[in-house]
Amino acid sequence: MATTSLRSSVGSSSSLGPRAAVPPLDIRPRRVRMAAKAATGAEDGAVSGPDLRVRVNGLELPNPFVIGSGPPGTNYTVMKRAFDEGWGAVIAKTVSLDAAKVVNVTPRYARLRAGSNGSAKGPIIGWENIELISDRPLEIMLNEFKQLKEEYPDRVLIASIMEEYNKEAWQELIERVEETGVDALEINFSCPHGMPERKMGAAVGQDCALLEEVCGWINEKATVPVWAKMTPNITDISQPARVALKSGCEGVSAINTIMSVMGINLNTLHPEPCVEGYSTPGGYSAKAVHPIALGKVMQIAKMMQSDFPNGDFSLSGIGGVETGGDAAEFILLGANTVQVCTGVMMHGYGVVKKLCAELQEFMSKHNFSSIEDFRGVSLQYFTTHTDLVRRQQDAIQQRKAIKKGLQSDKDWTGDGFVKETESMVSN
Ligand SMILES: Cc1cc2nc3c(=O)[nH]c(=O)nc-3n(C[C@H](O)[C@H](O)[C@H](O)COP(=O)(O)O)c2cc1C
Repeated sequence: MATTSLRSSVGSSSSLGPRAAVPPLDIRPRRVRMAAKAATGAEDGAVSGPDLRVRVNGLELPNPFVIGSGPPGTNYTVMKRAFDEGWGAVIAKTVSLDAAKVVNVTPRYARLRAGSNGSAKGPIIGWENIELISDRPLEIMLNEFKQLKEEYPDRVLIASIMEEYNKEAWQELIERVEETGVDALEINFSCPHGMPERKMGAAVGQDCALLEEVCGWINEKATVPVWAKMTPNITDISQPARVALKSGCEGVSAINTIMSVMGINLNTLHPEPCVEGYSTPGGYSAKAVHPIALGKVMQIAKMMQSDFPNGDFSLSGIGGVETGGDAAEFILLGANTVQVCTGVMMHGYGVVKKLCAELQEFMSKHNFSSIEDFRGVSLQYFTTHTDLVRRQQDAIQQRKAIKKGLQSDKDWTGDGFVKETESMVSN
């Protein structure tokens, strides 16, 4: 069975006991959630076969597939649907204290199809949104979290939160959200649009000093595990990820959407999505961002491997997941869980069954019996370009040394004649 040293470094999720007092900047995670013990995959209708269960920061999930924060986690009805269909966990749409400040526009989505500009044919490969965080009153969202936890006590519900640059506001939000019984918090340090002027979302995730300060407030208050959701709209994503983990967060999620302009309508000359003739840059997601997300997750995983070798930190991979193979790639890079947002908007909640079946198919093919069997295995195959050149030169030298085939008829020898003949046969 494949093994990797990453497993011991990128969060084997062992329990460190509840909330030990830890000095600031201690890199050991402090909180594990013991309450939520998820039903097994079989009970949730997942096909039998390799074990998909995941244990992360003390949370037990029937499978690694998590609803990513966004439209699929906007209200009680849809989150209940996600649990009923068998999702491993649900991260709700991001909430803040005062939803009245959140004013959305419509249309707020624009799609990219595999075809030329304006093509109505071809599969959807990219998705832009200019949607803000939840515009529903916090009290209503909190009641719904509470109801869901009452009805699904053994399922994992994670609240996504975001606030202004204000310690009291962050800590009040954390207290009120935790009272509902949610199992963990994901901090939205990554919303790319709408809130920078209020020092929210990506405005914090792009500024390591600000991030460290805000993480300090959050981790001083939170009693459940905290995942910091990172923006890809930054030169080196491993820097804010390192700050978040050093500041006491138990995990990192990546990526949120990529700053984009979906396109210009060549008939009207107006950009998309078009609101009253105008647009604003938005966040790009879906299949087209998957390679970029893999790159960012690889960078974070490498950083975790080198800077937090003895930690119990978790990594959640996000971006363009539509198949079990897409998820396997994130896990091979070290992710404990995999989030899906746009994929659910395009294919519905039932897609989780296909995702589980495809991931199990991949596992069976390689004889992996659990997620930990292959988590992080491919990380070791990333190196620098300089090292690639050295490896290739070594390999060429070795091939030459083996001396396959003869350069010229003068090279035939009497003793090695049969072997020399063999070396030039192709089948
Ligand atoms: C319409 C839409 C709304 C989103 N809203 C949020 C949000 O409120 N909070 C958040 O953290 N991420 C939000 N996201 C980002 C997703 O959670 C995810 O990080 C991103 O879309 C990449 O994953 P995907 O390709 O599976 O969608 C949103 C994404 C979309 C498409």
